Amino acid sequence: MKLTGKTAVITGGNKGIGAACALAFSREGANVVIAARNMSDSNRIVEQIISEGGKAAAIAADVSDHEQVKNMISRTVEMFGKIDILINNAGIIADSFINKMTLEQWDKVIATNLTGTFYCIREAVPYMIENGYGRIINTSSVAARKGAVAQSNYAASKAGIIGMTLSLAQELGKYNITVNAVAPGYVATDMTSNLPEKIMERANKVIPVKRFGTPEEMAAAFLYLASDEAAYCNGAVLDINGGLSL
Ligand SMILES: NC(=O)c1ccc[n+]([C@@H]2O[C@H](COP(=O)([O-])OP(=O)(O)OC[C@H]3O[C@@H](n4cnc5c(N)ncnc54)[C@H](O)[C@@H]3O)[C@@H](O)[C@H]2O)c1
Repeated sequence: MKLTGKTAVITGGNKGIGAACALAFSREGANVVIAARNMSDSNRIVEQIISEGGKAAAIAADVSDHEQVKNMISRTVEMFGKIDILINNAGIIADSFINKMTLEQWDKVIATNLTGTFYCIREAVPYMIENGYGRIINTSSVAARKGAVAQSNYAASKAGIIGMTLSLAQELGKYNITVNAVAPGYVATDMTSNLPEKIMERANKVIPVKRFGTPEEMAAAFLYLASDEAAYCNGAVLDINGGLSL
């Protein structure tokens, strides 16, 4: 198993891509902490992991709230003794054309996707330095590469995550902490389930492999970056989008 003895925090680990990561990481031997807002969804994934013989815990945390993040990270260390892997996956959309975008839509998306990622890294890094080991994997998007209509807030947050990833890879490498990102394309989760039929059809036409990705296909990329096999991979952004960004 690839992650035996490792402790992984997965934000937004109770649904979609995050839940697929939680299950995949646990099946590779990691202790998994699911950090998300909805405890009933989180408990469902924790129960599934425990029923498969793994170890997991759910901690309620809104990643856009610094105090809650601080508490979530310190509780993880109390429970499992360390943090080896941090998956910054929690994210939201609040789409709107720029002339109609409210300040709240802008602020909420930046606060969750970008500042939330910063809070989690800031609080986890001291424990990783102390431990002499860390794997941080952030979640960007194809929207950071290409932009997307009505997603200026979302694309800005996800492009910011790439800048943060490249900077921190240079800053933290000497501590044996690698920082990488996964940039998914269209993935079949709740986030894309409300897309209008027309946009779904268009997307399926323009994606070179002619379909949406699955959460499990994304989890495989996160798993690679979290594993010891990726020890020399630092500052990479893995585009997992069926060729959409080409
Ligand atoms: N689905 C896609 O097509 C797609 C494409 C590119 C990138 N992504 C990114 O992948 C990540 C996961 O998305 P998904 O498709 O699984 O979406 P999802 O809506 O199924 O899951 C999002 C998760 O984030 C959590 N979350 C949201 N706000 C939070 C907050 N403030 N604090 C804590 N948790 C919070 C939710 O509870 C949920 O668990 C996101 O960062 C998203 O931007 C998704």
